[in-house]
Amino acid sequence: LHIIHISVEMAPIAKVGGLGDVVTSLSRAVQDLNHNVDIILPKYDCLNLGNVKDFHYHNNYFWGGTEIKVWRGKVEGLSVYFLEPQNGFFHVGCVYGRANDAERFGFFCHAALEFLLQNGFHPDIIHCHDWSSAPVAWLFKENYVHYGLSKAQVVFTIHNLEFGANFIAKAMQHSDKATTVSPTYSREVAGHPAVAPHLPKFHGIINGIDPDIWDPYNDNFIPVSYTSENVVEGKRASKEALQLRLGLEKADLPLVGIITRLTHQKGIHLIKHAIWRTLERGGQNPCLDCGKIGMQIVLLGSAPDPRIQNDFVSLANQLHSTHNARARLCLSYDEPLSHLIYAGADFIVVPSIFEPCGLTQLTAMRYGAIPVVRKTGGLYDTVFDVDHDKDRAQAQGLEPNGFGFDGADAGGVDYALNRAISAWYEGRDWFDSLCKKVMEQDWSWNRPALDYLELYHAARKSL
Ligand code: ADP
Ligand code: GLC
Repeated sequence: LHIIHISVEMAPIAKVGGLGDVVTSLSRAVQDLNHNVDIILPKYDCLNLGNVKDFHYHNNYFWGGTEIKVWRGKVEGLSVYFLEPQNGFFHVGCVYGRANDAERFGFFCHAALEFLLQNGFHPDIIHCHDWSSAPVAWLFKENYVHYGLSKAQVVFTIHNLEFGANFIAKAMQHSDKATTVSPTYSREVAGHPAVAPHLPKFHGIINGIDPDIWDPYNDNFIPVSYTSENVVEGKRASKEALQLRLGLEKADLPLVGIITRLTHQKGIHLIKHAIWRTLERGGQNPCLDCGKIGMQIVLLGSAPDPRIQNDFVSLANQLHSTHNARARLCLSYDEPLSHLIYAGADFIVVPSIFEPCGLTQLTAMRYGAIPVVRKTGGLYDTVFDVDHDKDRAQAQGLEPNGFGFDGADAGGVDYALNRAISAWYEGRDWFDSLCKKVMEQDWSWNRPALDYLELYHAARKSL
């Protein structure tokens, strides 16, 4: 099959969140199965071109009252076309955040279809994502379906229904197949007016992570390579490097990590509670090996909303004076640091209010960090509580791999974190074998990529 993704995000060159990761990693998995994949992306001025191989001018065309220059290059082994309209739409800002985002991205979607038509592409599948490339679905059906692109089928993926519900509703209506990024989220949103009328063509397919991009055996950002065989030594070295880098006390204490966008979705009040709980709880448990008291917490997060950012800056300052040796809040977007935290943390806490899939819990497991999550959406589908979900895990052919809680109050966080931390203090052998076990679980695209291919083929059959 020839599949073309039209997207406004792509990791690592234009990544805001998991959507960027998925476009790259799903494409790589499908390409590895011998299909032909191209990606069309806006050429933002902020693109990290250092990560684009063989970047060169491709051609140009005129559409929408302006010249559009097309650049080409390879990102993580994938062929990418970059569209640069000379009206300056993508010369400002980085991905989202302009008042006219809907207009800019609508223009991009239309320009991408026009590029395909004018250059004689005949893709089998055009795959678009979220509100930002949703217009592809209806623009295609309204303007292009009868022309040269006629054999293409449109697949639309909802990564997050919170944004752009009207756009999403329209794309749901016009796409041939639609997906969202986990089975549980697909059920959670089944009654939403944008989704409900289209259930027969709507499928929940869990995301994967790219095991080559996230690989503790081959990661330039961590000090010692490790696999499940030497997970204890590998993680100890990363923890020490993390403590050193952030100026935390160098001690063998449980380290809790949080890596997140700081938005309402991610459970701001629960994140704050988890920070305080980690610090308080440490006081009651002297470390068995070193006799020291305490636990450590590292948060890496950035808030698009300045009020939330300021709130966390105040908290960071407060913790600096009260818990300088044990808590560090890094309020930025920092990809290299995220690798060191996944590798150095014993636990990654994800207390989301809702979570269509979530990638951080999957990456955590790849690095042998135990996920502690609120049981919602994709978190429910991928994390199985060691005390409560044995049967549910077994039904998936898995062993339990983390700690979970329900509810959206502080009590839930306490319940899960207390059990997680006790496990660290009271059963180090058991805990170490759990780390080894979670590292060996396969959360790659191996299976979900096949589900996507089945969906692509099913879309073609309806032609
Ligand atoms: P979402 O897309 O809703 O933000 P996901 O869990 O799907 O949530 O994906 C988040 C991605 O962004 C992960 O790859 C995570 O490692 C990364 N990430 C989130 N916050 C940061 C940050 N502050 N610095 C570096 N990476 C981050
Ligand atoms: C969205 C969702 C997240 C999901 C990601 C990739 O940003 O918030 O849960 O993992 O998209 O699909």
